[in-house]
Amino acid sequence: MDFTGQHILSVNQFERDSLDYIFDIAAKMEPYAKRQKRTKVLDGAILGNLFFEPSTRTRVSFGCAFNLLGGSVRETTGMQTSALAKGESLYDTARVVSSYSDVIAMRHPDAGSVAEFAEGSRVPVINGGDGANEHPTQALLDLFTIQSELRAFDEKIDGMHIAMVGDLKNGRTVHSLSKLLALYKNVKLSLISPTELAMPDYVVDTLSNAGHEIIISDKMESNLGADIVYQTRIQEERFASQDEANKYRGQFRLNNEIYTKYCKSNTVIMHPLPRDSRSDANELDNDLNQNPNLAIFRQADNGVLIRMALFAMTLGVADKVDQYQCDVPWVTSK
Ligand code: NCD
Repeated sequence: MDFTGQHILSVNQFERDSLDYIFDIAAKMEPYAKRQKRTKVLDGAILGNLFFEPSTRTRVSFGCAFNLLGGSVRETTGMQTSALAKGESLYDTARVVSSYSDVIAMRHPDAGSVAEFAEGSRVPVINGGDGANEHPTQALLDLFTIQSELRAFDEKIDGMHIAMVGDLKNGRTVHSLSKLLALYKNVKLSLISPTELAMPDYVVDTLSNAGHEIIISDKMESNLGADIVYQTRIQEERFASQDEANKYRGQFRLNNEIYTKYCKSNTVIMHPLPRDSRSDANELDNDLNQNPNLAIFRQADNGVLIRMALFAMTLGVADKVDQYQCDVPWVTSK
């Protein structure tokens, strides 16, 4: 399996085998992410980290992943501070920035924009989210998390039951994750959303063509008896107006009382984050913070491992990371 020089634009480019391969490499990155070891395998390489839409963990974890492999990061954030605001095309930006970089990570509000950018790029481009379309690195880290959380209970992705809750229409993370789940067997999916924010038909079709059992519902409580509950935020930035988004805010809230009553005792709680903690939304309550099955921060931690794996793979050094290792001289608290 060779991803050297390839763009990572969509989960459609992965097979089941490639997922196992990526997850193996990601697991080997853990001692580096925990600062038990360092590596200089990407010493001298530059990541162009271009984020034209708000982001905290995706942007920072792309940058940290690159730094942890020994590389340097050059970053631009926001549309208004970039030449796109002066009318420059994605193609021109790509031609220029790719000459400064060895690999590029990019997020943009328009579906298809990262693929368009990649056409002008001379180096691999990794999609950090393109509008409501896809978020392949998030789907990989979600699946990696599901696999490791279920493993603790001797369970597997094949045969599991996952409930996805919230804005399934506009949430790119659930689109990409569902497409990856189509590569597994006998998955049961409860797709819980307001009717107007239901999972797009093309995603549901992909899941049913894979032979999965699908329940579509606008009721949350009765559908929470799953192995994984994947909660999402109402994607207010994708709505025509705030008023429109406000109609759906706070409709599906998971808290300790509901979890205790309707979930299994070992149901794993996931969320791509950010969770909207404002009182009128609060889809995932802070009163679950001490619940050992709340996997949201382990999920975010895994983002670094997956992104390290993708950089190492696209730059052709996945098998050289240990060869360039060195000591960590400072006192680590990880
Ligand atoms: C998600 C995104 O940007 O699609 N966040 C993330 O990347 N972890 C989900 C969201 O913003 O709700």
